[in-house]
Amino acid sequence: MPTADILITAALPPLLSIPLQRDYRCVDYMKAADKPALLATEGAKIRGLVQGGHSTTATTLLDALPNLEIISVFGVGYDDVPIDYCRKRGIKVTHTPDVLTEDVADTAVALLLMSARGFVNANRALLKGDWSTGASTLTTKVAGKRAGIFGLGRIGKAIAERLTAFGMQIAYTGRSKQDVPYTFVPDLAALAAQSDFLIIAAPGGSATRNLVNADILNALGSNGTLINIARGSLVDEPALIAALKAGTIRGAGLDVFANEPNVPQELLAMDNVVLLPHVASATNETRQAMGDLCRANLDSWFAGEGVKTPIPELR
Ligand code: 8YV
Repeated sequence: MPTADILITAALPPLLSIPLQRDYRCVDYMKAADKPALLATEGAKIRGLVQGGHSTTATTLLDALPNLEIISVFGVGYDDVPIDYCRKRGIKVTHTPDVLTEDVADTAVALLLMSARGFVNANRALLKGDWSTGASTLTTKVAGKRAGIFGLGRIGKAIAERLTAFGMQIAYTGRSKQDVPYTFVPDLAALAAQSDFLIIAAPGGSATRNLVNADILNALGSNGTLINIARGSLVDEPALIAALKAGTIRGAGLDVFANEPNVPQELLAMDNVVLLPHVASATNETRQAMGDLCRANLDSWFAGEGVKTPIPELR
């Protein structure tokens, strides 16, 4: 087996950390009490780095790893990897696309159903012994409603397929019109205005930061619900909280937040939101497949066979 020194900068599940420790010399950056001292002794030996989909990799950290060859991201998103910096240094960056698409799309649909149908509140009412509240509150029908998908990549398409089966009308916005049986709306505000459910499935990062702002939420309107399974960074969270409080939008279903794992107290106190702790890809099957792919990228690179799933910008 190949062997190299690799730096681990995220809390990885055992399904990935155990085989990595078997095959590589792993240096745990997260647990190091004195990080500068760790980098001073280990930095020059490090040839690979493993991080999570939403961990930030600072260029100052990469500066301390002069022999770094590859960053293998355990996740599809790589919004906080400094791509231009990696390009300049010739550092490969890989991620884990495809294997999590179905689970993330399922989560978007679950959030949409739970939001529209008030299932969380009904469940809470029943558990409190109040069957009648849960049973008598009327909610919103999903079939026939309009879903607007922001970002029609792999995950956005899988969401669209599912919602088509639910009898919803599908429109989308993104970088360009695609050859798909859904309505393309070039502008996000216009998409929001013609959606009952606005679903965020676009990548995070500086290009999309806070794009879903007060104007977009106003356009979505008082019958509209925001669903986010992408990144919290796409949403202006204070504006979302204000819109939910004021009834500018009806509700929200969120798996991701601006400053995870911190969820604003105001959101926690609302009953028109459904909140999940970033679990969209968290099934045994998918996390195993993500771990396998994350490791396969390292293995093939250190075996001199290139990488399997490079990020599109560095192909
Ligand atoms: C994971 C994700 O929670 O794939 C992503 O980009 O956000 C999630 O699937 C994360 O990557 C685990 O580190």
